[in-house]
This record gives sequence, structure tokens and C-alpha cells, in this order.
Amino acid sequence: MKILILGAGGFIGSSLTQSILEKTSWTVYGLDLNDEKLAECLGHERFHFTRGDMINQMDWVEEHIQKCDVILPLVAIANPALYVQDPLRVFSLDFEANLPIIRMCVEHKKHLVFPSTSEVYGMCQDPAFDEETSNFITGPINKQRWIYSCSKQLLDRVIYAHGVRDGLNYTLFRPFNWIGPKLDAIGDPAQGSSRALTHFLSHIFYNKRINLVDGGQQMRSFTDIEDGVAALLSIIENKNGCANQKIFNVGNPHNNHTIAHMAQMILDTLETYPEYAALAQSVVVESVSAAAFYGQHYQDTQHRVPAIEQARVHLGWVPQFDLKHSIETTLAYHLSPERKHLLG
Ligand code: UGA
Repeated sequence: MKILILGAGGFIGSSLTQSILEKTSWTVYGLDLNDEKLAECLGHERFHFTRGDMINQMDWVEEHIQKCDVILPLVAIANPALYVQDPLRVFSLDFEANLPIIRMCVEHKKHLVFPSTSEVYGMCQDPAFDEETSNFITGPINKQRWIYSCSKQLLDRVIYAHGVRDGLNYTLFRPFNWIGPKLDAIGDPAQGSSRALTHFLSHIFYNKRINLVDGGQQMRSFTDIEDGVAALLSIIENKNGCANQKIFNVGNPHNNHTIAHMAQMILDTLETYPEYAALAQSVVVESVSAAAFYGQHYQDTQHRVPAIEQARVHLGWVPQFDLKHSIETTLAYHLSPERKHLLG
């Protein structure tokens, strides 16, 4: 089987590519601007990597859509700080740049495996968000944070409509706070420029305070990247058509923790490294207001738990890893002898 991954160098793309090469006989065609996270994959005989920008290489993209069996367009901005700082760029990349690719999958009759997001549920109040029954609740227009959610929601609706009208075979997967080693770079980012786990790590290693937005009592169902990739492998394999025209939450409802708890768990885990124990003990954790941290256009969701019955029934998938495992593997990655010189 031939798989096309647009955005192969990103967090999900690189982790998925590595797993495909290790565990299957499939061939991967990957496109990305960046190959830093692909060190383990480059040079593999079943991995064909092209460096480039999908927007300027639509001919390449169409040629490869025709050549491949399963298409994963993973290019998107998925970082809340950017939803409020540059909402039009989010719309342009996440929505406009992906639309022609969806249409090419319709035209060439390919299995489209598309990243939706837990953010489509917005501030839904259901105890667990259900793919078929939960309502999507976003805030007013002046809360620009929701442009990502709305862009993704509209793509979901476009893809679904092509399924009904044109028979497009799609699978929409909704990652719920996937985390792991290659999530974001830890390189002294500006405040608010990466997601919580990596943002906390960069603040620790650059001797800054950990900021808990509005006290950090909001909760997320953290999902280990290994679990996320396992679900994607089942979707791509698509045994007996089990993923055809389906939507799957891919999240871990048993891993639902406050952000404050995650911050403490990171510090506790870091303290087990003798070299970093003093640093871990010295970190100051403080609460900051969302308005001060992200600006006035931000609005948060306090609660985000996936229902995962669809994935269990159709894919035979259940998540295996707890938050402790994800933090341990992420720290082990960043503190490995090959990488730790990159830290401050
Ligand atoms: C994320 C992103 O939108 C996407 O990565 C993705 O689509 C989706 O959710 C998901 O992975 O399911 P969010 O959960 O808000 O959104 O992502 P983070 O930036 O990791 O923030 C998590 C929580 O930590 C938020 O409540 C945020 O306010 C808080 N936070 C973040 C802090 O308290 N301190 C920080 O330094 C950073």
C-alpha cells in the first residue's frame, strides 16, 4: 500500500511515518518544509521524502494523490496562541490550503484520512463528547480562538457532504491532546507559542516560571502519541472497510487531568533525574490570567473528554498509556545525550 503524508515532518506525521516503516510493509511518500523530526526515517527504502511547501507544489501533490492509496493531509496550524495572534493565517492554511486536496481526493477516488480535532466540540458540556450526537459550542466572533475550531468543523462538513454526494471514502479522526516526544521544539519560545506540555518544559529549561492559565484547573484528556498512531495504523489498514466514512475521537478518557496536575507531574518526573533535581525544585509555578497570557481574543474550554466507543467497536482500539508514561518518554527524548545540548 502507498501512503501520502502531507506534513510528514510534523508531530503526528513524523511519529506515524516512523511507525509505518517499523511495523508495516507500506511505502510512504512525504512532503514537508522540515525534516528535523524525521531523522530515523530519512534514507529508508520505503520512505520517499520531498522537501517543499504544499501550497506551491500542487502539481506534485496531485501527482502523488493519483499515485497513492491513502492520503493524509496533516498540514495545519494547531497551536492556540496562533489562533489568536494570526487567525487569518490559520484559516488560510488549515481551511483554504486543504480544500483543493479534499477535492482531488474526491476526483481521484482516494481514501482520505483527515485530521479533524477535539476543538470542534468547543465548550460542549456533554460528560463525554460523542461523534454522532454532541453539539459544537463555540464563543462569540471576538473570541478569535475559535477560528481553528470553525475551520476544521467546516472541513468536516465539506468532507461529509462529499461522502454523501460523491461517495468519497473518508475517515475523520479527532485527536484529543495528543502528546509525546516530538510535539513541539523546546527552544526558548516566546510566551504562549507552543502547547502546554512543551511550553512548560521550555520554561523549566530556560529558568522561567511555569504559567498556569487562570489557575490551571481546566482539564484535558491527554493521549499518548503511541496510542494515537496505533489508531491511525488501524484506520489506514482499514480491514474489511472498518474505517470507511467514519468519524473517530482518538483520545484517552481515563487520562483526564487538570493542567496544574500535569505541570506538577512534569516537575516530579524531572526531579528523578539527579542532574536536574535542583532545577525541578527551584521552578516557580504561578497563575496568570488568560487575558494576560493570550490576549483578549482567547477563550478556553474547561472540559474535554472523548467518547471512544466508535474507535473501540470499529477499530478494536483502546488507549494503553497514561500521562506519566507520556511525560517520561518526552523527558527521556529531550534529555537524551544526542539532544540535551539543545536545551538552555
Ligand atoms: C489544543 C490545540 O488546539 C490543538 O493542539 C489540538 O487541536 C487540540 O487542542 C487537541 O490536541 O486536542 P489546547 O488543549 O487548549 O488546544 O492546547 P494547549 O495549548 O496544550 O493548552 C492546554 C491548556 O493549558 C489550556 O487551558 C491553556 O490555557 C493551558 N496552558 C497552556 C497553561 O496553563 N499554560 C501554558 O503555558 C500553556
